[in-house]
Amino acid sequence: MAIPIKTPQKIEKMRLAGRLTAEVLDYITPHVRAGITTNELDRLCHDYIVEVQQAIPAPLNYSPPGYPPYPKSICTSLNHQVCHGVPGDRQLKNGDIVNLDVTVIKDGYHGDSSRMFLVGEPSVLARRLCEVTFECLWLGIAQVRGGASLGDIGHAIQQHAEKSGYSVVREFCGHGIGEKFHEEPQVLHYGKPHTGLKLEPGMVFTIEPMINAGKAAIRTMADGWTIVTRDHSLSAQWEHTVLVTESGFEVLTVSAGTRPRPDWIG
Ligand code: MF3
Ligand code: CO
Ligand code: CO
Repeated sequence: MAIPIKTPQKIEKMRLAGRLTAEVLDYITPHVRAGITTNELDRLCHDYIVEVQQAIPAPLNYSPPGYPPYPKSICTSLNHQVCHGVPGDRQLKNGDIVNLDVTVIKDGYHGDSSRMFLVGEPSVLARRLCEVTFECLWLGIAQVRGGASLGDIGHAIQQHAEKSGYSVVREFCGHGIGEKFHEEPQVLHYGKPHTGLKLEPGMVFTIEPMINAGKAAIRTMADGWTIVTRDHSLSAQWEHTVLVTESGFEVLTVSAGTRPRPDWIG
């Protein structure tokens, strides 16, 4: 298992890619309102990345083994969609929750981040699911430091999700990231403390828990990409790209509009 350790020069490039990724999410935030279609959100992000940032939207035509080329520039996962929701002509409406997942390539390096957005006034359950999932992300991040284990991250996330009455999606995980979109290691969002890979300074990976209000089981839609909950329960996800340091972590996908960590974590 050769996990890439990034040099200071590469890390500097990843800081830029990470900031640009977060800035796309900042840019799109005021547009995420009832009436807009997910295709329109995709187009706005595409044009901002290409024309303003002079960067590349990594999802466009991304084609891992076994998948058709991804047809859009961002992922828009609505309500019971877990991840990889393909933008289309569906308009957002009051009460929706939607995850926007953005991956930008700048100067050969990737940044990957996603946030949940509330449209109008979602149900108490929907809002609580989004909050608990944000806490799961941060409880995972708070485990990151040289010498910790990947299992520590997964355990912290799973504990919080399950004690809140929710379930953790198993089929998708966080991932190493750098010159490639998805590299080693796999960062599971469940697990046992003190198990799995030991973290070393210079590793960079995403943490991106997908948490379902109902059961954990998922299904893939006919488009080959969009993942939904089997029981049609709501699902939420938040994602950051994180650097391991000696003493802890540095979140790379940060911008002026990044939501701060919950004050009771870390
Ligand atoms: N951004 C997703 C992740 O967090 C991957 C999306 S692949 C795509 O790993 F092709 F759907 F964009
Ligand atoms: Co990711
Ligand atoms: Co992502």
